[in-house]
Amino acid sequence: MVQQFKRIGVLTSGGDAPGMNAAVRAVVRQARDHDVEVMAIYEGYKGLIEGNVRLFDMRDVSNIINHGGTILYSARSPEFKTEEGMQKAIDTCKKHGIEGIVTIGGDGTFRGATDLSRRGIPCIGVPGTIDNDIASTDYTIGYDTAMNTAIQMVDRLRDTCESHFRCNVVEIMGRNSGYIALNVGLATGAAQIVVNELPFDEERMYDEILIGKKRGKRHYIIMVSEGMQGYAEKLTENIQLHTGVETRFTRLGHVVRGGSPTLRDRVIASRMGIAAVNLLLEGRSNMVICMHGEDIEALDIEYALTIDHMYKGKIKEGELERYSIDDIQSMRHYCAKKAADFKTLYNQALDISQ
Ligand code: F6P
Repeated sequence: MVQQFKRIGVLTSGGDAPGMNAAVRAVVRQARDHDVEVMAIYEGYKGLIEGNVRLFDMRDVSNIINHGGTILYSARSPEFKTEEGMQKAIDTCKKHGIEGIVTIGGDGTFRGATDLSRRGIPCIGVPGTIDNDIASTDYTIGYDTAMNTAIQMVDRLRDTCESHFRCNVVEIMGRNSGYIALNVGLATGAAQIVVNELPFDEERMYDEILIGKKRGKRHYIIMVSEGMQGYAEKLTENIQLHTGVETRFTRLGHVVRGGSPTLRDRVIASRMGIAAVNLLLEGRSNMVICMHGEDIEALDIEYALTIDHMYKGKIKEGELERYSIDDIQSMRHYCAKKAADFKTLYNQALDISQ
């Protein structure tokens, strides 16, 4: 292994996610193990611009693996998107001898990492968001904890629905991604799952609720992803109107973003943190750590962002020009498989929902 760095930085950016602390801990410990110093950068790119940094040692990351949130704090930074903000961030790196950065967060965090890498500060991205909405990776840190928190909440709602013969429409976070809604819906036996990725037949749902009612079913959980943008409240009124089943609305909101990370989040965050430092030590830059199956791998960030754009139907003009035909085909195949897997799980969840 070629060691090229004396001091690196680590930051968390975007929405916090359980397991980010485990990743920070792994970064610090792996780096210190190779005699590389680590600067903690507080509040993401905002802190980098403002010079809000501090040298971390092993003690700073002890007793954090079990804590939710991020000890480095997080913030969204519009200033970082400006040339002036970017220059200030680079000045902070120069002033404090930060030669490379591990950036932990979502797709916005990766765009920032790419901008810094292009300007000579090598960055490695680690996917951290409860949403699991980064298409280039099967897994993002925080996803498992958020879903486990959510199923506990929804199980409680089902108890009270059953007692009162009610329906509960539950809106759950995920930004524009239905992964959390789909899996939590399946895991809590939801009668219907509504996600913005796939069409949903409202009339058919009413019929199914009425059939269930005739059979004596007393509880109905309807799981709606946040990406449906306010539809869940309207649906709550409609269900009561069309089926006569008393219906309540619950938005789980930020509660699913906190709490102690699950084993899966702690383990994956640790593996990803170690992998990110190893890449920097190998002299690599502008890469993002991804998980495919159970394997931790690395992709070029821009390639990963293009996969993400392709999956979300947001390819920019000229974006594919830098890739070979083979690359584009393999991206298309990857995205098609991902979408097909999502649809299969959705259909399976609905097949066993009644
Ligand atoms: O990306 C994580 C997330 O919790 C999304 O699920 C949600 O749409 C968004 O962040 C909420 O953002 P904020 O914390 O700024 O309200």
